[in-house]
Amino acid sequence: MKIFLDTADTNEVRKFLDAGLVDGITTNPTLIANSGRNLFEVITELSQMVMGPISAEVTATDWQGMVTEGRKLAKISKYVTVKVPLTFDGLKACHALISEGIMVNVTLCFSSTQALLAAKAGATFISPFVGRLDDISINGMKLIEKICNIYANYPSINTQVLVASVRHPLHVVEAAQLGADIVTIPTKVLEQMIKHPLTDKGLESFLNDWNSTGQSIL
Ligand code: E4P
Repeated sequence: MKIFLDTADTNEVRKFLDAGLVDGITTNPTLIANSGRNLFEVITELSQMVMGPISAEVTATDWQGMVTEGRKLAKISKYVTVKVPLTFDGLKACHALISEGIMVNVTLCFSSTQALLAAKAGATFISPFVGRLDDISINGMKLIEKICNIYANYPSINTQVLVASVRHPLHVVEAAQLGADIVTIPTKVLEQMIKHPLTDKGLESFLNDWNSTGQSIL
């Protein structure tokens, strides 16, 4: 399963790149606003750092406007993936951009019917938001299970399931168990995935024992 970082903070991304843990990036208008930076500057910088899909979201709500914005965003780099909302206009824009060879991430997906239609429109990625479903007492991971099953029934579907709105490591584990293609996660969740108290405790005791030997590897 690929791991994308869900952030527009280039410093956060740089921290994890060298460990080979990052396959791509997703941003959205809220993350860009939180960065306090210009959208084009951020996406340009990210696409020079990460050799993988970088999602940049359109803000027009009509399909022609989405296509115009999408073409402009896609000019930044071959890695740019245009993110469109899962509305009728978004699906039309998706279809148009895909036919021009531009990668599209259809976002704000909350149902399996929406995911089915995004695949029909030719989306590169579908982004179901699990955390926001959990927030309203609907099991987000159940939606991932349904979408993975539906897509698996039709080998002609090439749309990749990108699990979004991830809030904790358990979402990541369940996404991997279900065979989702990608999870996009805040850096906080990636840090939580690395840490284990028994690793810290074990390392401390190994080092104490090693130091008592007076030896040095170098
Ligand atoms: C995905 O592409 C979105 O940017 C993101 O996962 C939304 O997450 P949130 O529900 O935590 O805002």
